[in-house]
Amino acid sequence: MAPGVGRRLDGLPNRDLNVGAIVALSPVLPAAVKAVFNSWGPGKYDAEFNRDGINSPVVIPPALGLRGVALETYTGEGPVSYWNAYVAVTQMHGHGSFSDPALGINIQQSPDRVTPVLPVLRAYQLGLNAPTPAAGSFDPAAAGRGKVVFTSTGRCASCHLPAMVFTDVNLGILHDPSETGMDPVRASRLKNHKYRTTPLRALSQHPPYFHDGSAATLADVVEHYNRVLGLGLSDTQKADLVEYLKSL
Ligand code: HEC
Repeated sequence: MAPGVGRRLDGLPNRDLNVGAIVALSPVLPAAVKAVFNSWGPGKYDAEFNRDGINSPVVIPPALGLRGVALETYTGEGPVSYWNAYVAVTQMHGHGSFSDPALGINIQQSPDRVTPVLPVLRAYQLGLNAPTPAAGSFDPAAAGRGKVVFTSTGRCASCHLPAMVFTDVNLGILHDPSETGMDPVRASRLKNHKYRTTPLRALSQHPPYFHDGSAATLADVVEHYNRVLGLGLSDTQKADLVEYLKSL
């Protein structure tokens, strides 16, 4: 970060970078493959497309705020180092080894320049704290009421456990797509066929929400759950819940 531009903040996801459009510039790709890459749009990536040929990209998640979270990906394949190794070897073509029998992947390359750096990369990533929301960015009184909705009528805290970085994944729990009304395609492409409860952190800083970005705003998130879980929240309860989510 050049002096005067601002304060560096590592770990927030890029929402402008159009990785698919960049990769699609490659002259060696067939037109049909280019069309898939061009369909993703900014801030999204599909790390399985080169393996299974299915097109269902995910919103790039924050790398920060993962301390104490057992599994890193939306679909709970593995912890931070699993994912870093997967991306380094199968996506960025780093010279290293990665294997996951459940996904039928076994790449062994010598010398392995990836595995030795995984511990320091992990330590760096887990050192990235979630930024606290700026003063004035939410209404504290409404957020206080929203917190009550979160833990009671809204039923949010039954999966987003407040004492565990707002996820139940540390208890070994993953959720069937139908439990929260999620599109099942992404989960069906991976080994667990389920979604991990996303840890909630710095929420107002990285819309859109859910693995596929299907909720553009936090109000959309609340509407989604109100509909899918049949919560019957009043407009005031919904608004209070949104203020609480902004405060996380
Ligand atoms: C049955 C478990 C469960 C319940 C109940 C639940 N969630 Fe979730 N939540 C999940 C799962 C699983 C995901 C990941 C879904 C995905 O990525 O498609 C998620 C994702 C989210 C996200 C997206 C975070 C991000 O960074 O993209 C938000 C926000 C959220 N939930 C808020 C809530 C709120 C508010 C409630 C209560 C109204 C609630 N959740 C109730 C399991 C649950």
